[in-house]
This record gives sequence, structure tokens and C-alpha cells, in this order.
Amino acid sequence: AKIVDIINKAETTHSLTKEEIVDLLRCNEYDQQLFLAADRVRSQYVGDQVHLRGLIEFSNVCQQNCFYCGLRKENTKVKRYRLSPDTIVDLAGKAKSYNYKTVVLQSGESQSYTVTEMQYIISSIKALGLAITLSLGEKNRDEYQIYREAGADRYLLRIETTNPQIYKELHPGMSFENRVRCLLDLKELGYELGTGCLVGLPNQTMECLADDILFFKTLDADMIGLGPFIPNADTPLAQEKGGTFTTSIKVMAITRLLLPEANIPATTAMETLNKNGRIIALQSGANVVMPNVTEGEYRKMYMLYPGKICVNDTPKHCIGCITGKIQGIGRHVSTEFGFRKSKKLTN
Ligand code: 5AD
Ligand code: SF4
Ligand code: FES
Repeated sequence: AKIVDIINKAETTHSLTKEEIVDLLRCNEYDQQLFLAADRVRSQYVGDQVHLRGLIEFSNVCQQNCFYCGLRKENTKVKRYRLSPDTIVDLAGKAKSYNYKTVVLQSGESQSYTVTEMQYIISSIKALGLAITLSLGEKNRDEYQIYREAGADRYLLRIETTNPQIYKELHPGMSFENRVRCLLDLKELGYELGTGCLVGLPNQTMECLADDILFFKTLDADMIGLGPFIPNADTPLAQEKGGTFTTSIKVMAITRLLLPEANIPATTAMETLNKNGRIIALQSGANVVMPNVTEGEYRKMYMLYPGKICVNDTPKHCIGCITGKIQGIGRHVSTEFGFRKSKKLTN
């Protein structure tokens, strides 16, 4: 089929075959039409509001060894930190004072907080009237359940890649099956579920990316975070090429067409490759931005990849900056929680 017909089919039926997705990804001639279609579907299904989520990177301690990531345990160049539970709750309080409605608690995967400490952090933040998204990596079902009962609303766990070989090569000691188990447990426990992938991993083909997009759809994910893989010099993938901005935005735009109601962030990694990257993303299907609300020296110490934006800025500066940019393209910052399908705050 012609590319324009595939774009039309995606915009009207929100479904495509793997082959059609591959055709879209391979051809660059109609990219503007693809982005405009994704922008229309975004406007129609999730509106013109942009949801801001305040990101708290509360610890960079990690027991995993993902080949692409600067926080991998074998990277001894990283100075590890762990914010105290009360410091984390204070940061959430500051985020609330900046009018954030959601905080995202993100860390490396580790046991450096006890379950009791995490319960305390979650219930204290919940008591502030904020929605809570967790991004703590793989845990057992019981732990996910305890955090859900403590008040967590959403969970982010990217599948990273659905290609079994690539997954295996890049995640020593981890298993694809367990990651899918985590996603299914989270969904069953009533979390709003976020997943996503890296774009431009070594040996990743357009077919792999098409499978990733179809996986998001099969899972019926509520949130999808996508970004280019950016090689980090202190990792085994230092010499790799990394993903491109354009392919990342295309994967995101196709994801919007196929999952019209999803919350999709304009990610920091996109802005790292293009100085207007988040705004371009917001005009190509995205409806969420996750500004960093971590303070001081810790902002520089959560280095997944080089060139991370905003490391020398303050939370206050970033909220002003991004609000101005959002208004500059005729969109507004949402004053709502921004659940999928206007679900209400639970717990
Ligand atoms: N480049 C881009 N994204 C990365 N992540 C980890 N390392 C990199 C990198 N080098 C992403 C992973 C993870 C998220 C928190 O950060 O996809 O899920
Ligand atoms: Fe740890 Fe997450 Fe980085 Fe993997 S991607 S090394 S789990 S912080
Ligand atoms: Fe941080 Fe613009 S969002 S400086």
C-alpha cells in the first residue's frame, strides 16, 4: 500500500500490521504527514492540555547491569546517593507547591530502601493529595501490591526491547519473561501501566521496533515512554552509534496513532538529541512532560546517558521554562491529575 494510505488507515482505525509499521518506519518521505496525523489523534483523544509530572530521582544505586545505562552496577565512576525518606517527601511537597499534580519516584533497581520505608514515603506523599507514579524496576508481586495499597497510582517499567536476543544480550542476569510478569502483575493490581522502549539499540531493526509498538498495543499500556538510545562512554556500548531523533519521534507518532488514549511523554532523551526535541514531540503525538524536581548536586548524579538536559537548572527554573514553551505552541498546562480516560485518583 502507499504510505499515505497506511497513515490514513492508522489515523482512522488505530490498527496496523507489522508490515505496514515497518513500511512507515523505512520511508522518510511522508514523515510530516505522519506527525500531523499523530498530532490530530492526540488532540482528538487526549486534548490540548499537557500533563506535567515532577520527576524525583531519589537514588542512583542499582544492582542491575544493563549494557546501555550509566547507572549499571559495574560503573564504578558513579558516586552513588540515596536521599532519605523525609528528603523525598519534602521534594514532593515542593513539587506540589509548584502545582505539580503527580510526582514520579524513580530510582535504580535496588533494595536500599526497606519495604517499610517505601510505604512511609508513598503514604506520606499520597497524604499531600498528589498522584504517585513509581519507577523502581522489577519487584515481586507482593511488593507491588503493598505499594499499590500504600497509595501508588501508576508504575513505569519499560520493556526496553521486545526482541528476545537483544534483550538477553543487553540485560545480563535478567529475563524477558520476568519483565513481562512484572508488567502483568502491575496491571492486575490496578496500577496505570507505563512501558516503552529504547530506539536505536545495537542490532535493533525496524521490524523489532514494529514488534515493540504492537507489544504496547497488546498490553493496552496506559503510558508509553520512548527515547533514543544514547551511548554512554562508561558502559560496554560506548562505541555504538545510538538512535536518531527522527526514528524516535516516528516510533512515538505511530504509537500515538495505534494507542490514541495513551499518555505519552516528550522525553528528556529526545531533547538531548535536538534542542527543540520536547516541543517537536508534543506536536507529533506527545501530551506529557516530566520535568526534573530533584535538587542540587543530585541532578548531575543520575546520568543514564551523557548530555542530559537541565542538570544545572533548578526545579523552579524548569517549571517556568517548560510552561512558557508549552504556551508558546498554543497548548496549556493541565490542572488535573491526567489519568488515562479521566480515571479518578484512587486509594
Ligand atoms: N540512553 C537512553 N536512555 C537510557 N535509559 C537507560 N540508559 C539509557 C541510555 N544510554 C533509559 C531506559 C530506562 C530509563 C529510565 O532510561 O530505557 O528504562
Ligand atoms: Fe539500573 Fe535501570 Fe540503569 Fe538498568 S536501566 S542499570 S535497572 S538504572
Ligand atoms: Fe529545564 Fe527548560 S525544562 S531548563
